[in-house]
Amino acid sequence: MDKLEIEGGIALHGEVRISGAKNATLPILAATLLADEPVSVGNVPHLNDVTTTIALLGRMGVAVSMHDGMRLEVDTSGIEDFTAPYELVKTMRASILVLGPLLGRFGRANVSLPGGCAIGARPVNIHVAGLKAMGAEVDIQDGYIRARSRGLRGARIVMDTVTVTGTENLMMAAVLARGETVLENAAREPEVADLARFLVAMGAHIEGAGTDTIHIQGVERLGGAEYRVMPDRVETGTYLVAGAITGGHVRVLNAWPDTLDAVVAKLRDAGASIECGPDWIDLDMGGQRPRAVDIVTAPYPGFPTDMQAQFCALNAVADGAGTITETIFENRFQHVLEMQRLGADFRIQGHTAYSRGVPALKGAPVMATDLRASASLVLAALVAQGTTRVERIYHIDRGYECLEEKLQRLGASIRRVHG
Ligand code: EPU
Repeated sequence: MDKLEIEGGIALHGEVRISGAKNATLPILAATLLADEPVSVGNVPHLNDVTTTIALLGRMGVAVSMHDGMRLEVDTSGIEDFTAPYELVKTMRASILVLGPLLGRFGRANVSLPGGCAIGARPVNIHVAGLKAMGAEVDIQDGYIRARSRGLRGARIVMDTVTVTGTENLMMAAVLARGETVLENAAREPEVADLARFLVAMGAHIEGAGTDTIHIQGVERLGGAEYRVMPDRVETGTYLVAGAITGGHVRVLNAWPDTLDAVVAKLRDAGASIECGPDWIDLDMGGQRPRAVDIVTAPYPGFPTDMQAQFCALNAVADGAGTITETIFENRFQHVLEMQRLGADFRIQGHTAYSRGVPALKGAPVMATDLRASASLVLAALVAQGTTRVERIYHIDRGYECLEEKLQRLGASIRRVHG
């Protein structure tokens, strides 16, 4: 299995171009199932999760072709199977996103139940309850969600927890339902709004995406569209932390600064000087050690759980004591235990990681446990003395395009070791 070897201690300088957002691309590719004409999706990042989604669509009989490296043409006219099998769902929970569109357009879907996850229980009860409220029959049989419908009908659905893929699944199911669906307590994440813009480009009637109440007026059919996926705000934030943690000066290009307000505010608290343009963010740490920050994760526009691990790395070497409280997932501090192997001083109590920053970490072998945990270990390694080897980096390849090349261009000493 591939590993990353990182020599720490270099301040990062330079520009980095942000890729398309993983968590927008995955629902958008699932939403192509709703179109009865070919669609074209641009700014698609090269990620293992995208490859898995293409494989999933391919198994159903959907034709997907790649153009110019980052544009996918999707044609669903050959679809003949409506199953998301366990082998694919177990490697990527986001496969659950085909449930809503398959049911909405074809009236049938068999999707493996995702099962456990490294960061928390992550049930899908809200997805299922919403589809039932729209008139679907849903059973769990042999580990599969088996959903059937003779035509969904609009409904008012109040979700009792804010769920990103839950909101996306129900929005996709509702676009072809009879009448109006109102999703209340909807997720406000920018990726939900990006998916809605794609659905509207295909002919859907949606208002309020990006707020906590989404109105969807069902239409007869969705047709072809050309769309460009939004930039990845978590990748953007990760490179900004890389600049801050190393005392460097990093400019991220092709970004959407408006989607990162909570992250930028915390980086300013940490002592970074930050300027934003229409599609770039410039972070200058002026060679200073960051100050520790206090963070509580929350649904958007709060501080994203997907940036929590990266800020744990920052607090590990920051000046002073900090607290990071995780409110979204119940088991998302595995990275902290690995950082302790590098000499970090953390105490976890309940859902909070209390840190006392140390002046320097020391390189050691560490193991990635999930996608964002892996990124945080790479960040910690960038400031650890000596060599850190990060193992199980297949997690990183699920969600960061060309991570080592991008970091190398900023001056980092990082290389991939095969085998
Ligand atoms: N929840 C339920 N029931 C449900 C659905 C969710 O109780 O039916 C709970 C979850 O257990 C969790 C909370 O609601 O405690 C929020 O989970 P959510 O459903 O919002 O998470 P998700 O949709 O499965 C997406 C992202 C995650 C990101 C979370 C939170 C995608 C493909 N995944 O997951 O991204 O952490 O939202 O923002 O969009 C990542 O990219 O590394 C990643 C894990």
